[in-house]
Amino acid sequence: MPKITEIEDLKRIYRRRVPKMFFDYCESGSWTEQTFRENSSDFDDIYLRQRVAIDMTGRSLATQMIGQDVSMPLALAPVGMTGMQHADGEIHAARAAGKAGVPYTLSTMSICSIEDVAENTDKPFWLQVYTLKDDEFMQRLFDRAKAAKCSAAVITVDLQMLGQRHKDIKNGLSAPPKLTPASVANMATKVPWGLEMLQTKRRFFGNIVGHAKGVDDPSNLAAWTANAFDQALDWDRIRQFRKMWDGPLIIKGIMDPRDALEACNVGADAIVVSNHGGRQLDGALSSIRALGPILDAVGNRIEVHIDSGIRSGQDVLKAVAMGAKGAWIGRAYIYGLGAMGEQGVSEALRVMRTELDTSMGLCGRTDINSVDRDILMIPKGFSGDWEE
Ligand code: GLV
Repeated sequence: MPKITEIEDLKRIYRRRVPKMFFDYCESGSWTEQTFRENSSDFDDIYLRQRVAIDMTGRSLATQMIGQDVSMPLALAPVGMTGMQHADGEIHAARAAGKAGVPYTLSTMSICSIEDVAENTDKPFWLQVYTLKDDEFMQRLFDRAKAAKCSAAVITVDLQMLGQRHKDIKNGLSAPPKLTPASVANMATKVPWGLEMLQTKRRFFGNIVGHAKGVDDPSNLAAWTANAFDQALDWDRIRQFRKMWDGPLIIKGIMDPRDALEACNVGADAIVVSNHGGRQLDGALSSIRALGPILDAVGNRIEVHIDSGIRSGQDVLKAVAMGAKGAWIGRAYIYGLGAMGEQGVSEALRVMRTELDTSMGLCGRTDINSVDRDILMIPKGFSGDWEE
């Protein structure tokens, strides 16, 4: 196995191994990709305060997210079409997360179904839920999650319609990939990926096909979302979903303190400050810049997590020091999955854990639960102090 010392190593292998249309799907933001870029680069504006001659033995990263024990404050975010990055990708990712002691979140738009993942893993996972118009489908999704013993539902509230990602349109993104001269020419250079994909029967949207009505073309995510997703979504509708699911609930996609306060009234256990990895509203603030004002607004009324832009253990440390109870990673583990399946996800988690642990120690802290803003130097622009 090649020596993996950083997430970028996995990304290089991933790029070589996986068809262009799926690499591009992962590595895109919407429109100009400003938010996608700034989600990561804004972390660089926050500095860590180096301390010395402080006993740093006996460090611990163990903590809790929504009352569940985790080995570090990190979760695997839902990523659509994960099973196209590697055959049976969702199962591989969930297994690696289970072994590492961190939560795995299965996307509604996964290739492996809820049942596939439950049957092939031995740890409970979280289910991400899109807000669809079809009540019957929604209730069945929550019931299926319950039957699969999912330990939380994660309602994504920032995708009433899809932000445009140019490359997906140009590539004719679909699952399984449509055979065009360009896609065939590209896949011909991805033989190991293709051979593994031929050996699995899981190549369609496993939670949708056979479960949702009116799916004309089961390979086309954009067309189906345009029809089925609820553009009229409001907080009353979200409260209806709360009634359909009586387990732990997380609301994902909050970027404004006013929306965070609304989410507190729904009876959720946590919110995720997220702009969907820069894939929805291009021009939105990075989520690390949105985090502080949201934390200030909600106080201790609700647990606050963050995703979008997190590519290193240092990023996790900064988010936790700001006050997040957990940081979710998407692309950082998809790189590992595409590069080398379950082992690659384990490698991504190992890299992030080492970076987090060492950086915490070098800041003079030994317990992740005691990390606070004192280890950070935060410039202006991270506290919501904008012109009206
Ligand atoms: C779906 O969640 C996407 O961002 O593509």
